[in-house]
Amino acid sequence: MPKFKYYAIFSTFLLLFFLSTFQVDAQKIPYTSQKSAKGTSAMVVSPHPLATEVGLSILKAGGNAIDATVALQFAQAVVYPRAGNIGGGGFMVIRTKDGKAITIDYREKAPAKANRNMYLDEKGDIIPGLSTKGHLAAGVPGTVDGLIQAHEQYGKLPFTQLIQPAIELAQKGYPISQTEADRLNRFQDDFKAVNDEPNPFIKANWQEGDVLQQTKLAETLARIQKKGRAGFYKGKTAKAIVREMKEGNGIISRRDLSKYKAQWRDPVEGQYKSYKIISMPPPSSGGLALIQLLKMVEPYPIEQWGFHDPRTIHLMAEAERRAYADRSQHLGDMDFYPVPVDSLLAATYIKDRMKDFSPDKATLSSDILAGEFQGVMKESFETTHSSIVDAEGNAVSLTTTLNSNFGCKVWVDEGGFFLNNEMDDFSSKPGVPNQFGLVGAEANAIAAGKRMLSSMTPTIIEKDGEVFMVIGAPGGSTIITAVFQVFLNVAAFDMPLEKAVEASRFHHQWLPDRILIEKDGLSKALQEKLKAMGHQLSEVNYMAVIKAIQRLQDGSWQGVGDERNPDDDARGY
Ligand code: GLY
Repeated sequence: MPKFKYYAIFSTFLLLFFLSTFQVDAQKIPYTSQKSAKGTSAMVVSPHPLATEVGLSILKAGGNAIDATVALQFAQAVVYPRAGNIGGGGFMVIRTKDGKAITIDYREKAPAKANRNMYLDEKGDIIPGLSTKGHLAAGVPGTVDGLIQAHEQYGKLPFTQLIQPAIELAQKGYPISQTEADRLNRFQDDFKAVNDEPNPFIKANWQEGDVLQQTKLAETLARIQKKGRAGFYKGKTAKAIVREMKEGNGIISRRDLSKYKAQWRDPVEGQYKSYKIISMPPPSSGGLALIQLLKMVEPYPIEQWGFHDPRTIHLMAEAERRAYADRSQHLGDMDFYPVPVDSLLAATYIKDRMKDFSPDKATLSSDILAGEFQGVMKESFETTHSSIVDAEGNAVSLTTTLNSNFGCKVWVDEGGFFLNNEMDDFSSKPGVPNQFGLVGAEANAIAAGKRMLSSMTPTIIEKDGEVFMVIGAPGGSTIITAVFQVFLNVAAFDMPLEKAVEASRFHHQWLPDRILIEKDGLSKALQEKLKAMGHQLSEVNYMAVIKAIQRLQDGSWQGVGDERNPDDDARGY
């Protein structure tokens, strides 16, 4: 790749320069993450203070938002190993300073040996756990190619500089937070079930402050630094992944890796009142569903009804029911299936979809199934999101994932990273729910080389032609409804961003036919009113974890992380 040859000539000089400007010292940063920050020029919100610091240091060193995002995602692969990754995939929505909106899809792909029945037994029933744990659950990772392509197209600083903080964090190690210690302890049995020891993640009783050092990962990152995409998709790293596959009956091949390519795609766009929504197209369902939801509620006076008025919740839940029914039937990888994007967003279709909405009675999801144009959470939600704006006017909304916590739990021995279990996001059998309780159909059936449907909703919202909000979240199927609700908390209910993010959320995903509510989120009286309309309610501790940036009236930036993740961190300048 000519660009990398060019970089190689200057890399020694640039590294020396960079090492003198890199301000992040992992050992010194306290885990007192900052949930809210203001900045006149730039802002970074991420799931971890060290990742935020890396992004911010790149901006301060003259990088733009795309540079900061690339550096931040590599750093997350080190300091947020349960979801930040190089063994997974993601989506990036970019709005440049000139107002151009574009997305890059680096979602994982099904390996060439995958087929639609690969998780079924001889009777045609799902084999429990096969699509979620172990080698067969992994899709071909997309992160490294996605980040490199994003940088090639829009980056300013040399790639070698952007990946250097991650290498240092992996080499030196960093003290883990209480949340990370809890997660690592929770998954010890899973780690042991599919990995050999010694392994840096397998240890009895992790404690806050223990230093996690990842020397194998540092070596892999150094190979990527030196060779670009070939440092991951070819040579030693590719060999390590394939060896891992052979040992665990996985199917990712050298050819799958060398053929992987991230895809530039036009965003899906829609208008809600005076706001322009720019979001991720299929293979994510996020952008389409978000715009459908906003268009479905737009004709109703929710501003007058108010936040968490029973009429408002009922309307929003009914819109959610319909959008998720569409998701399960019509959405999948557009490169394999003709997703009817325009039809799903057509004003006549949206109007028709809400024709059977009753203002005081819940519709049965079984009736929605019959209407046309024609899930049960088993594991905590894990994915991760970062929102970034720079002083030049570029904005990036990035959601990336291994799917479950630590993906399929397989740690590539010689590579030093976890692999995803994204194959579970396909519909393994029509009508049978995946780990998020989501059901699917032909549009999202497994096929070799296909990308699995996602709910990730990295979004940028404009008002008066300028960036108004950068928003997204981890949270499996609840991501879409969280972005929908937090945006409306600001745009319709006039909440400051901190309150909008903090406010309790609810979620309907068509099947199972119930509204998920957060613990202590809705008063008993309100719950009774919703039940009287025919809704079933079900409580969970918390759902998606928003990371958002809003432009304030004076032109400055407000960044907000979510208390739902103790390590969420917002910093700006
Ligand atoms: N793996 C979660 C999602 O992509 O929606």
